Amino acid sequence: MLNKKVFNKSYEPLQLFMNKKIVIFISGRGSNAKNIINYFSDKSDFLVSHVFSNNKHSDIINHLNIKQVKFFLFDEEDFNGKVFDELKKINPKLIILAGFLKKIPPLYISYFKNKIINIHPSLLPNYGGKGMYGSKIHKKVIENGEAETGITIHYVSEEYDSGKIIFQKKIIVDKYDTPKKLEEKIHKLEYEYFPKVIESLLK
Ligand code: GAR
Repeated sequence: MLNKKVFNKSYEPLQLFMNKKIVIFISGRGSNAKNIINYFSDKSDFLVSHVFSNNKHSDIINHLNIKQVKFFLFDEEDFNGKVFDELKKINPKLIILAGFLKKIPPLYISYFKNKIINIHPSLLPNYGGKGMYGSKIHKKVIENGEAETGITIHYVSEEYDSGKIIFQKKIIVDKYDTPKKLEEKIHKLEYEYFPKVIESLLK
């Protein structure tokens, strides 16, 4: 499906068929999604075409309008129907979960084999699994007096946070770190490495 708006980004028509389409799923603020969109916006052989969100309060929509990325808000019912159909039509090279908190149905995993990746704000397998996300993780890391934490980028499998690990980066937990400070440090790491890992997977 050709997205007319893409022509405004001054792509040659042939490039439209050649560029590597990326789709992002979010449930929260979407700051990683924004960062990924910005990173790829001047790379003509990549195209972040859609952001799918199950959170109607996400403040990302204005940013997407500027960057001409399509936004798709969905609910539980759509997730098992319309969203999957739309994804098949888009036929992305990579589906990125950037703070997306719903479990990915097996149907998606088998159809998009090795094409769905997730970022997790801890050093998996530590602090992974159902209910472990965002600030909850940083709070636990501090409570447990961990010396280090970090980020993990991994393929998505049928169990939460358990697919093959692609990339990890560690940081030291400072004695003055609070969950909020740790969250900021982790976000910085995510902004630095996530787009680069995505790019390297697509090369
Ligand atoms: C990110 O830190 C991401 O690693 C985490 O949610 C945050 C989303 O922030 N994901 C998980 O915890 C998944 N289990 P953002 O919406 O600002 O990008």
